[in-house]
Amino acid sequence: MIDQLNQLYEEFKEKIAAVEDMQQLDSLKTLFLGKKGPMTDILKGLKDVAPDMRKEVGMKGNEIKQGMTAAIEARRDELKQAAINEKISNEWLDVTLNEADSNVGGLHPVSVVQYEIEDIFTSMGFTVLDGPHIETDYYNFEALNIPADHPARDMQDTFYFENGAILRTHTSAIQVRGMEKATPPFKVIGPGKVFRVERPDATHEAAFHQLEGMVVGEDINVSHLINTMKTLLSEIFKRDVDVRLRPGFFPFVEPGFELDISCQLCNGKGCSVCKNVGWIELMPCGMVHPNVLKSGGIDPEKYSGFAFGLGLDRLVMMRYKIEDIRHLHSGDIRFSGKFK
Ligand code: PHE
Repeated sequence: MIDQLNQLYEEFKEKIAAVEDMQQLDSLKTLFLGKKGPMTDILKGLKDVAPDMRKEVGMKGNEIKQGMTAAIEARRDELKQAAINEKISNEWLDVTLNEADSNVGGLHPVSVVQYEIEDIFTSMGFTVLDGPHIETDYYNFEALNIPADHPARDMQDTFYFENGAILRTHTSAIQVRGMEKATPPFKVIGPGKVFRVERPDATHEAAFHQLEGMVVGEDINVSHLINTMKTLLSEIFKRDVDVRLRPGFFPFVEPGFELDISCQLCNGKGCSVCKNVGWIELMPCGMVHPNVLKSGGIDPEKYSGFAFGLGLDRLVMMRYKIEDIRHLHSGDIRFSGKFK
């Protein structure tokens, strides 16, 4: 009987070595160890074995049964691992790209300049704020000293939602939200997209970018404003650029200015971009109107401040000598690919 058991074990070993998948393994298990299998038969037949042999045969039988069970489980683990390895090797994705034969993306020139300006301002102690594109009438107009019937609204016609919300026309809305949260003294900038009803031409688009700035504290005056603007321009252009300051009207500043730079495309001679005047309106600015400080919960008797609204797309155009703002929104990679 022992021989019979050994022979069975040998047969089992041969078969298990040939097993290739879980299904084969399961049938092998039933074949050898199942209720109707030879091991069960042999162990059942123990009672007919001569008593002096019974113990030895029983032990051998159990030993072989355990050996088979262990071999089956070991084989099961091997098969599982092999399945995982196969999956890993089949689903392996090479995320490294060979730069030489690929078309790698890059930042849009507006983002490049925006991040650069953020760096310049944060190095001067400014905090960068964000605000929503969809604004309320209050933050976009009312709190900025532009009541419902004010003619200044005509200059900033926008897109209205049925519930009265609007697409913000300028980043000045960020000023108001900033004032509500901050306690003076503070210095903030707020870059972002703005929207207006515009007839697109070389310098106008219905969606464009601005970068708002606001400084509030005790004794803040026009010289602080001018110095900040000069520092920014020399950092951006890395050379002297002619600037001029003219009076400008915005209900939320008093006095208000238009800061122009000489057109970098024609060196001030006059071209289609500057509409033959040689200057580009780049940075409207001024001293924050007391009513605006009040809307932001700031005491105008104690504090004063300046604000500016830099035209980011125009700055990008001047910096890279781009003759039409519409290139910036064209989505044409022949254009944007040049700024990588
Ligand atoms: N918000 C104004 C505009 O978009 C620009 C501006 C900002 C003017 C801050 C003065 C101060 O036209």
